[in-house]
Amino acid sequence: MVLNTWFLDHLYNLDTIIRIGWLALIFAPFNKISKYCIILPTLLFSVECILVLLFGDSPMLNWISLKDLLMAIIVQRKQFYLMDLWIAQWMVYNFYAGCGKTASCGSFHINKTWTSERYVFTILLFLTYLAAPLGLVFYIVGKHSFLKEYQKNVQNAIKNDYFHIDQLKHPFSTPHTVRFADKLPESLSSIYYFLLGIIGLTTLFTIVLPSYIGLIIYCRIVYKYSSSSLSDLKTIPEALRNVTAEMRLTLIKTDRNQRRLIWHLKYLLLQFATIFEYASNYSEPFRLFRSLEEYFRKIYHTPYFVLGNGIAVNSYDIVKRYIQDLPPRKDAELLAWEISPSLETFCDFTTVFLSTNHPDTQLGRKIIFQWLHSFPHNLKHRNFEMELQLSRIVPRHMDKKPTKDLVYQAVGEVMFFLATNGELTKSERLAYISCVQSPFIFFPNWFNFLFNGHYFERKNLSNYYTLLRAFLRYENGSALQAAFMAAEKKKSHEEVLKFITVVFCVAGSPAPAKLAVTVIDRLWADKEKNVPLFKKNPHNFIKECARLDKAVPTVNVLATDEIVSEVEKSFEGKIKISENTPVHCSIVNANRDKAVFENPDEFIPDRLDLNKILVWNGVEEDIINPDQSKRPIRYCPGHDLSLDIVQYVAERFLPVTDDIDEDNNNKNEQDLIVFEQKIRKLTPNEESHCWNVLDTYTKVVRLLMTIVINESNLFPSRAIDIAPPMHLPVKNFSIFRIDMAKFIPSWDEDKPNGSRPLRKFARWLVNSNIWDFYDCLAGFDTLEQALAWRSQIFPSLPLPNIVYTDMFSDEAMSRLAFFGCACHYTQRIDKSEQPALQNAVYVNDMTVLSIFRVRRPFERYGAAAYFDGDFQLIAIYWCHANRVVRKDDQFWEHAKYVWRSSFFAYVTIHDHLIVTHMIECNALVTATRKYLTNDHPLRLFLQPFTYHTVSVNYQAAISLVNRRGLVHRVWAFDYDEFLKVCDYISMTYKFRLLPEYIPSSMSPENNSKSKEQWDKVYPIYSDMNHFWKIIHKYVENFFHITFNVQDDDKLPMDTHMTEFINELCKQLGIPGIVSLKRFIDVLAHLIASSTGMHEHVGQISDYVIDPRFIGAKLQEGKEIQNIQTYTQILILTVVTGVRMPGLLEDWSHLIERNQYYEKNLANYENFKNELKNLSQDIDHRNKTRKYPFESFNPKFIECSASV
Ligand SMILES: [Fe+2]
Repeated sequence: MVLNTWFLDHLYNLDTIIRIGWLALIFAPFNKISKYCIILPTLLFSVECILVLLFGDSPMLNWISLKDLLMAIIVQRKQFYLMDLWIAQWMVYNFYAGCGKTASCGSFHINKTWTSERYVFTILLFLTYLAAPLGLVFYIVGKHSFLKEYQKNVQNAIKNDYFHIDQLKHPFSTPHTVRFADKLPESLSSIYYFLLGIIGLTTLFTIVLPSYIGLIIYCRIVYKYSSSSLSDLKTIPEALRNVTAEMRLTLIKTDRNQRRLIWHLKYLLLQFATIFEYASNYSEPFRLFRSLEEYFRKIYHTPYFVLGNGIAVNSYDIVKRYIQDLPPRKDAELLAWEISPSLETFCDFTTVFLSTNHPDTQLGRKIIFQWLHSFPHNLKHRNFEMELQLSRIVPRHMDKKPTKDLVYQAVGEVMFFLATNGELTKSERLAYISCVQSPFIFFPNWFNFLFNGHYFERKNLSNYYTLLRAFLRYENGSALQAAFMAAEKKKSHEEVLKFITVVFCVAGSPAPAKLAVTVIDRLWADKEKNVPLFKKNPHNFIKECARLDKAVPTVNVLATDEIVSEVEKSFEGKIKISENTPVHCSIVNANRDKAVFENPDEFIPDRLDLNKILVWNGVEEDIINPDQSKRPIRYCPGHDLSLDIVQYVAERFLPVTDDIDEDNNNKNEQDLIVFEQKIRKLTPNEESHCWNVLDTYTKVVRLLMTIVINESNLFPSRAIDIAPPMHLPVKNFSIFRIDMAKFIPSWDEDKPNGSRPLRKFARWLVNSNIWDFYDCLAGFDTLEQALAWRSQIFPSLPLPNIVYTDMFSDEAMSRLAFFGCACHYTQRIDKSEQPALQNAVYVNDMTVLSIFRVRRPFERYGAAAYFDGDFQLIAIYWCHANRVVRKDDQFWEHAKYVWRSSFFAYVTIHDHLIVTHMIECNALVTATRKYLTNDHPLRLFLQPFTYHTVSVNYQAAISLVNRRGLVHRVWAFDYDEFLKVCDYISMTYKFRLLPEYIPSSMSPENNSKSKEQWDKVYPIYSDMNHFWKIIHKYVENFFHITFNVQDDDKLPMDTHMTEFINELCKQLGIPGIVSLKRFIDVLAHLIASSTGMHEHVGQISDYVIDPRFIGAKLQEGKEIQNIQTYTQILILTVVTGVRMPGLLEDWSHLIERNQYYEKNLANYENFKNELKNLSQDIDHRNKTRKYPFESFNPKFIECSASV
């Protein structure tokens, strides 16, 4: 009784605590106390319940008696208040996720201002409390009424493909109705499909699968025939496949008028069995078809057999005749069963399934031919621009075999680029991969119902619409315009567009994508044997792969009179089939027919009978007949295109072999191949030895790095993915101060939802303070071992812009000083006062870092290299030893190593990390996003140059430059000393325009050289200036067009711009900008800094392919990096080498469609053309320069400091 009283007292208290929880949630939704105020009553309630259950005579026990349960629910409402409290917390997150923002670190940052939406939401929260347990209903209603527009705008802004909103509203891209539920409002439709999914899965598991098991048992019982001579197919038991085949035969023999309910039920079960059998033999369907054929040959002495809903045939002669010689009759069928209504109704006008002599079919083929022939690009006629774009879309990848998805994506993107001269966004690429991977749209309606109520089929259809919108973006392009023309107004643009989409999604790309995977698999399986075969004749290699491949296993026709009589005759009159019975022609078996192909199961690209293959809906030798009138009626219009695309993609993923390819035009790539060929394999003992010496941090980071790299490589960002500025009601983007006294924003509108959970977890793990910190000095046993370690553990190292094969000779030092990443520090000197340096004319002084202490036992950084008038190295001042080292000195090699390492450290920390990222790019992005409204023309103009900058700076701040972070570990400074380095750099930073980065002493005039002569020995001078002029002109024209200003002295009257300028001045230490001319100069420099300068100082992969090139830490007597430091610097190289949108990629979608659009577009196109010309010019001049110089070659430059 005492306990009872205790409970009763507390019931009142609990109510009060719950009410406090509600008030806290309403007025301080993200305060920690609010969380505790929700958790506390829940805990108390739980404790009460447990105690009540333990003590039987308590009043609470009555609640669990059925008799009083109803009354308890009506009378006691506190449990509902509590339950609704949790629901309300979800509502809070749901609501503020719309109007607030999620920082990239994953924490919430809300808009705390009392907007009208927040008032409404607060009222809803009150109502939720008062109306418990019905509070959620109010929120749902509110969300879909008053808050709807508001939520929609914010969500649209958050969508990555925000800028396609106009297209989403385009009538062409509105999904059609497949089922009645598609007409319902979205919420009702979702409920309908959810329920349908449950019913479907229940039916699958309670009726269909048990029936199928029953069928298996039945087949085993009734099957009498058994012969070991039959095919050894193991995946489907002989009894099952043969008895079901007999049952199917009985079904198709049944006259159409006599097909009753039981016939249909049997039919469905056997269709399910067909799909199951096919799926079980997906990788080698020819084995299934062959075994069925063998059975029918034994029993009925006929080459025909039964498959799915019709007759099938493997014989080459018959297949050839049915798909090529006889007038074909077609239906909406694929792979031995009907297709889904989604596919059937997507496009009324399609020849994919109806390739006959029907006028519509003829028109369809004409449209496709016109479309294909009007592609803006053709792989057979490549130009500079095309090569450039394709090389960015599919970068050369030779380190390891690519994943299937990577190959699928490459094929899809290449084909889309050839067709449109455009790019697919990330979501469109995902849709394409899904189209290739997921076949559910090809399955019948009833089958898709079983699998989650048509969920997968509808997802496929949604992907089709996604790709339709992608084509819609380029509807004014030459190919689509030609297709519209070819339709001769007989078909609407919508029908033509859907037709093109379905061709791309069904017929055009998945088959070549899968074929490309087969080709690449074979190349990597035995590269020494197969790569030479491929190079000898790529098309033959691909055709032979296609012959043995299963990308298109069957082609279907309907039985004509002629076929019906042939089949009946073959069965010696034992069966009769109806006209229009499906006939499945097995391409995979016809291409392995022994009667036609010698050693049909062997891979022989040189085979004489290769052109007999039936892959592209006809015999190859007929398809390639120059006389077009003699080509097969149904041959695939994309035959040539698919071969070219597969060849191109295979070449991009071609493994490296021991052969030297004399024909390779890419010298850089060829140099790397030659370099890599010399590297041996790491033995397991060596690998474990090297791995074991690493500290735990390095091991963990190395492992987690793969998560980041795999994701980034699979879904690299493209310029098309750069969204316009978001229209959000808040400007706050969570700026915080880091140790380096810099203010870094943490929320990036380019990545509004932050990183994926796995990536967040990886970052959290890496930044935990649980990892040891020590400088392991263990070195590699041999250089070969070090190279093998790099090659094996870091296969995804980015391809260097320049492949240095020598970085040790004196000549190489000259090259580094005048062509390397620190060449802007090289300057001419007056006569040296030091006698040892009397001949010195040039110096590259990297002694600054010598004033900073390093950890023991390492040497201080710092050295200055001196060169004579012929640019030859004559001496090095070595700071650590405080002496000048000359050629014949015993420390000569070490001094060179110290100088290389010092300039690498200085350029990486000073130029790349602090000046470019933390000062200039950070100033540009923070000022832009804080002070320019989303619709401000300048904000839109700068959008590509600030893409992802917030994210990369934030990640660098929390994972690289933090205490015990990667930079702290890679270089030898103690953390406090590193901060002093940063302070020193910040203090000595002085804003300079790009051309001012080159000392005036390094002009051609001051060196008595012509521009041409000087370019051969000091190329940065012309390249940087040329690049600067292009950027400057682009910015200048933009202001003249958009702000209509003629006078360069006057800044436009614009308060936002004034605030923006003030912020820039504050962050960059500029005294003030009072003229437009100066403003243009500053902006042009910031853009050049984010692009060209960032490439010049940030391309570190050139310097790490050999551990002797540079040392991040210096150690007495060592001119090679130790295992741990080398591993750490390779990690840094890989994570900063992720691909980002290129400067030459297309971001014209960001140009505002206002009255200045045409002029701005012309300015943009002119800018791109000038950059392309510069790239070509640099390529050309690199051939005559002493060494190539690529830092300001636009083809290598990214459009922002995004990595
Ligand atoms: Fe960078």
